[in-house]
Formats: sequence, C-alpha cells, structure tokens
Amino acid sequence: MILVKPTREHMSGYVEAISKGWSPDNVRGAVTARDHLRRIAVAPDAFLGGLDDPEARGGPVTLPDGTQAERLPGFVRWIWDGDYCGSISFRWKPGGAELPPHVLGHIGYAVVPWKQGRGYATRALGLLLTQIGGLGLSHVDLTTDPANLASQEVILANGGYLAERFTKLAAYGGGETLRFRIALEPRPICP
Ligand SMILES: CC(C)(COP(=O)(O)OP(=O)(O)OC[C@H]1O[C@@H](n2cnc3c(N)ncnc32)[C@H](O)[C@@H]1OP(=O)(O)O)[C@@H](O)C(=O)NCCC(=O)NCCS
Repeated sequence: MILVKPTREHMSGYVEAISKGWSPDNVRGAVTARDHLRRIAVAPDAFLGGLDDPEARGGPVTLPDGTQAERLPGFVRWIWDGDYCGSISFRWKPGGAELPPHVLGHIGYAVVPWKQGRGYATRALGLLLTQIGGLGLSHVDLTTDPANLASQEVILANGGYLAERFTKLAAYGGGETLRFRIALEPRPICP
C-alpha cells in the first residue's frame, strides 16, 4: 500500500467510491461527495489540481454551518493498493504548528469500508508523517470523536498522545472532541 498524488490513472476507483455514497470528508460527508462528483464531471483535471494546493489557491473553505473561512495550504493523497482505498489530507499554517480555531487538525483520513481493517490507515498516517518532516513543524494535531476508537488506535500506533479534550466551534455543531498530538522530528521530504 502506498500514498499517491491523485491523477487521472487513479480517478475511476475514487468516482466509484463516492458514487456509492461513501465520502472522504468526515465532517461534511455527502455534501463533499456530491460536490466532487459534479466537479469531476465538469473539469476533472482542475479537480485533481485542487487536491494539491500547497499555496492555498483554492479560495475560502466552507464550514459545516455554511460559513466561510481562510484556506490553509494543504494537499490530499490517495491510499492506493492497486485500487483506491481512501484519502489522507494534510494542511498547515506556514511558520509554526499552531492552527486557527476553524481548523480541527493538521491531518484527516478515511478508508473505504471494503478496505478497512487491513492496517491501511495506520500505514497511511505513518507514510504521511515521513513526507512532512521538512516543513519544520514541531508537531501535528489530529482530532477524533471520543467514540472513534479505530481512529484513536491509528494515532496511538503512530506515536500520538491525547493532548486535550475540547469543545468544537459552533460552526462544527459544538460537542466534545479529543485533540491528539504527534511530535515530529525533522526528516527530509520524500517525493
Ligand atoms: C478510522 C479508519 C480510517 C481506520 O481505517 P483502517 O484502515 O480500518 O484502520 P487500520 O486497519 O489501520 O486499523 C487501526 C486500528 O483500529 C482498530 N479498529 C478498527 N475498527 C475498530 C473499532 N470499531 N473499535 C476499536 N478499534 C478498531 C484496528 O483493530 C486497528 O488496531 P490494531 O492495529 O491494534 O489492530 C476507518 O475506520 C474510517 O475510515 N472511519 C471513518 C472515517 C474516520 O473516522 N476517519 C477518522 C476521523 S478522525
């Protein structure tokens, strides 16, 4: 299993997954899946280009309550074993590891149900961590719901620890969530 920069070659498995009602977005769910299907149909290369956005050219992000907020630089990689398995995304604020309050974490991931339980999310997070060492961040933060034990296992297996419990912004519907932290050592950026 590897992480790939999404290209046309990988697109059909992704379209199949989101056409079945699955979504890579743990927060906006079906809204994002429908939006991606529409954008792929209209301009597939522009859609793919938008998944790799280290200069935050994509315009503001829409939060679950419809409000818009600053987009941070970021990129998406697809989890790939010869077929599309899931997505892992990373965003960061240049100059430090702190995130603005509207950004719940540096990293998000989701694996399609038919590829879960194979260690893919654990390995995907480990691979991503090796790719971001050159950015100079002291740590990354990830948030999970208290009930999401699988996600917590993924983080703990990659050296994460529970940093705090906090209440999400009203724009995310409030509710208690967990912030995990993974300390980073400076590592060279892998291609
Ligand atoms: C969380 C998620 C990405 C895990 O993907 P995955 O590829 O199945 O994860 P892994 O195979 O690497 O398994 C990770 C660990 O979770 C454990 N696990 C899986 N399902 C579990 C469950 N329901 N309860 C407790 N632990 C569970 C696995 O046993 C494994 O632990 P182990 O290594 O000690 O055996 C996947 O369940 C998913 O996409 N969920 C929906 C989206 C989501 O919640 N994303 C994270 C948001 S923070």
